[in-house]
Amino acid sequence: MKRVFLIVLDSLGIGEEPDAMHFGDRDCNTMKRISEHPCYRNGHTRSIGLANIDGQEYLGPIERPTGAFARLRERSMGKDTTIGHWEIAGIFSPKPLPTYPNGFPKEVLDAFEQATGRKAICNKPYSGTEVIKDYGTEHMKTGALIVYTSADSVFQIAANEAVVPLETLYEYCRIARKILTGPHAVGRVIARPFVGDSPETFKRTANRHDFSLTPPSPTMLDAISGAGKTVYSIGKIYDIFAGEGITEYVYTHGNTEGMQKTFEALDKDFEGLCFTNLVDFDMLYGHRQDVEGYAKAFAEFDAWLPAFIEKMRPDDVLMITADHGCDPGDNHTDHTREYIPLLMYGKNVQTRNFGTRTTFADIAATVCNYLDVPYECDGTVMDFSEKAISDELARAAVGAMKNAYVPYSHYTVGAALLTGDGVLYTGCNIENAAYGPTNCAERTAIFKAVSEGRTTLRMIAVAGGKDGAVEGLFPPCGVCRQVIREFADDDLPVLLVKSAVPLAYERVTLGDLLPYSFSPKFIQK
Ligand code: THU
Repeated sequence: MKRVFLIVLDSLGIGEEPDAMHFGDRDCNTMKRISEHPCYRNGHTRSIGLANIDGQEYLGPIERPTGAFARLRERSMGKDTTIGHWEIAGIFSPKPLPTYPNGFPKEVLDAFEQATGRKAICNKPYSGTEVIKDYGTEHMKTGALIVYTSADSVFQIAANEAVVPLETLYEYCRIARKILTGPHAVGRVIARPFVGDSPETFKRTANRHDFSLTPPSPTMLDAISGAGKTVYSIGKIYDIFAGEGITEYVYTHGNTEGMQKTFEALDKDFEGLCFTNLVDFDMLYGHRQDVEGYAKAFAEFDAWLPAFIEKMRPDDVLMITADHGCDPGDNHTDHTREYIPLLMYGKNVQTRNFGTRTTFADIAATVCNYLDVPYECDGTVMDFSEKAISDELARAAVGAMKNAYVPYSHYTVGAALLTGDGVLYTGCNIENAAYGPTNCAERTAIFKAVSEGRTTLRMIAVAGGKDGAVEGLFPPCGVCRQVIREFADDDLPVLLVKSAVPLAYERVTLGDLLPYSFSPKFIQK
């Protein structure tokens, strides 16, 4: 029963993308900003691999992270919640959703006023709490609807629950949703009900409701539920996808409840995806430029992780990511165009640094691949299975043979290794006219890794043969076995390639190759 728990830490970007300046952003890095606050804690996310993600060196990379990880770039032309989540789910949006810094055009408002029979007031970007203070009295007096927007692609309608009953307000939102199509297809129409009878007592209620744009084509959610599996939405995921492809959902009030519901989902028997959005990071702290609140919220999430991990089943995979940035310490309150992190953890996840990816859609491809669900999208699978990574290493060892410098023996040898922190290095043999100084492929690969500060190994593969052919095993020589032993224990998997096409290898351990080995532990340091 394979299950993926995909958790979006809303707005937790990890550094500006190369085109950030075109989005009005510079010097933004949400993660870095909050990491500088004393309340920030990352012990558990860091042990999975947070600090080993490209560009996160400032967090202090560790030698043996437990998960697989990557940094992902947004390919879509946007930095909002909807486009970010859609891309995570496999959809590329070439155009940003429309925003209205000067308010909505006349044709939109006219159509809205006509269909609702009420006047619309305000019609500009506004803070949600200020707008009811400034326009609430007029609204109560005349029954006109407070229509406002923000830097996001949103059409928001605020109304007092005593003036416009909730259901009616929702109906007005549905009307607006029908009008806001084509060039005016805003990401969300949002009902913003409030109560109170004077500007001092006006207060927004929890009955906020989002009416989202339907994704333009099938997402991984449709693929997974279409294959008969569960897609369980926790928090605002349901709204972001307008319910498309979701089989079960629960709304939440904030991060704490979102984490609790996700934890409870571990007890449900299902096959498929549990997709959670933790919105407080963005809503309460990012937009409000509250670095301390953001740092504390991350510390809370980090502290929640071990109990979740403890309860995961063998076929569960946990994925932690974000949808855009919202640097709380930069020069504006809007989202920021940032890379997003991806941490993947589970019994079936082999540690691997998947580097920097060109689209968030790699998440969709990876989720569907793991769940054995066919889904066509622009994303590339990050296959974290032990088998895939073994194959990758074996293939890389064969590939490394091509640079072998072998004018004397003509035996080309290639090696590929995976370091403790999930990075792949290759090496070839390099001969010498004096014969003796010849360096074997395994040692070349190991020395490359060690010279870059990586001194532990997770796996090594070796391939070799005369003039580039692989015609059977080409096992490491005694010297190489000893050098490998310096940086790995007896249980290190060693892949001995016996055929390049079709790829075939034998999997032994270092202990098999070097019994009763002499190792650093015999030397008193
Ligand atoms: N060789 C390796 O690269 N790795 C080994 O473990 C065994 C031997 C190379 C060294 C030399 O260039 C060629 O194979 C023939 O001995």
